[in-house]
Amino acid sequence: MSDATSQTAAKAAEDSTGHRFRNWGPRHRDLRDWLERCEEIGELIRLKGVHWDLEIGAVAEMIYHNKPDNPPAILFEEIPGYPKDFKVLSGAVNSPRRLAMTLGFDDPRSMKDVVLAYRDRIKDFELIPPKEVEAEVETAPVLENIDRDDEVDLYKFPVPFFHEEDGGRYIGTGDLVIMKDRDSDWVNHGTYRVQIHDKNTVGLWMSPGKHGTLIKEKYFAEGKNCPVLISVGHDPLLHLSSANEVGPGISEFAHAGANRGRPFEVVRSELHGLPIPAYGEICLEGEIMLNEKKSEGPFGEWTGYYASHIREDHVVKVKRVYYRTNPILTTARPGRPPSDYSFSKCVVKAAMIWDQVEKAGLPNVQGVWCMEFGGGRLFNVISIKQAYAGHARQALLLAAGSHGGNYIGRFVVVVDEDIDPGDIWSVMWAISTRCDPAEDIDIIRNCWSGPLDPRKKVGDNFNSRALIDACKPYDWRHDFPHTAESTPELKKKTLEKFGYILDQL
Ligand SMILES: Cc1cc2nc3c(=O)[nH]c(=O)nc-3n(C[C@H](O)[C@H](O)[C@H](O)COP(=O)(O)O)c2cc1C
Repeated sequence: MSDATSQTAAKAAEDSTGHRFRNWGPRHRDLRDWLERCEEIGELIRLKGVHWDLEIGAVAEMIYHNKPDNPPAILFEEIPGYPKDFKVLSGAVNSPRRLAMTLGFDDPRSMKDVVLAYRDRIKDFELIPPKEVEAEVETAPVLENIDRDDEVDLYKFPVPFFHEEDGGRYIGTGDLVIMKDRDSDWVNHGTYRVQIHDKNTVGLWMSPGKHGTLIKEKYFAEGKNCPVLISVGHDPLLHLSSANEVGPGISEFAHAGANRGRPFEVVRSELHGLPIPAYGEICLEGEIMLNEKKSEGPFGEWTGYYASHIREDHVVKVKRVYYRTNPILTTARPGRPPSDYSFSKCVVKAAMIWDQVEKAGLPNVQGVWCMEFGGGRLFNVISIKQAYAGHARQALLLAAGSHGGNYIGRFVVVVDEDIDPGDIWSVMWAISTRCDPAEDIDIIRNCWSGPLDPRKKVGDNFNSRALIDACKPYDWRHDFPHTAESTPELKKKTLEKFGYILDQL
């Protein structure tokens, strides 16, 4: 174990509640090593013969809709019409245990343990920049196969057609879109959807305000095409950093390296010298074309709707495809939640919001949760132990305005410390009983939304927020009627004496 790894292990060994997490030791080497670990803990299923045309998407939906607790990761093998060993992965980190294993925390008792452990880790995160390796197959297996120019044919991979009303096959869902800033050394990667238009052209949809959009616009402002890499098979740690809001100027490679406890190996791409994950599975290289557009979408999205309508968007011309022998395409299929990634999104977002509100000075945070039915964005809850007048509103404003919680938010709720923010019954009970709508709900207008918001008109990128104060009123909180529920002591005694009744029901 390297020094960096052992330090990370030591840090992760105990969270602020005193719960000890057995560490998995050095993180997995790559996706293939990760799959073996996943199989070892009994959380991977292999399905053979499922077709790319609607079946992969519908089977993933069936599993994630019907098995919301601890659903497995799914490796689709022997996909009809494709070489036997070309595979598709769905739902990589979408259970508390797999997510904990991936991040190096041991068996969580609940999702809250993973939120806490991750919040504790990112509190004093030390970024670990990527390490460049020689462009050789031994050090960069992603170079095992390279298709150049006319050889490029994206249909050689078993890319799913996910939902019935999609505009095409989407090769990029669990992807990393890697771009370098025009004015600095910042290399960003974000997860943005990628549709195949033809064998060497793809559509790329990046929402307004996303870092990829900001970088692209700088190249376009100079009349230039924008160089890009699109990795569509890789370590789940890279995807976790890519698909959640890491701040501007920070490299997601370095962010993921900090989660890994050692640097990610990267190799320079042939055309633009951009960093390819050296142990990645499949990576496309090309340029976003300033003067070439095609219709992109529709695509079934995380809100549960085909929300961003079909529109003209700049295409990417793909000139290189780097891939390992027997490659694995990593996917994340959005749609009406729960989806194959919605749980992991909620954990990471909750930990990020928790960390960001504390860094902005909010005391006494007891918990944060982003509801899975809101795709990790639309309905977020923060629990505090009220310490002063105005504390609850401060929590609402900070949680709503944090970078992790801002984009396409909708409802933010603050509750007292006796309410578990992850328990929808408790949260709705607190709203129903402690919140007086006229006094305790504030509306903020003109917030950051985007084309995926199903409730706004095409072209309108603003939405509003409801800030819901479901805490007992601060001034008379001690006089608030007592909760009509057995005390914890009576509950414990009752369970010990009469718990057998529950087992018989
Ligand atoms: C599975 C998945 C797919 C996503 N697809 C898109 C997308 O198509 N366009 C987009 O703008 N954001 C998308 N996002 C959200 C971004 O990846 C996320 O906001 C990320 O922080 C963007 O990176 P950036 O902060 O560097 O811009 C997706 C997230 C996930 C988890």
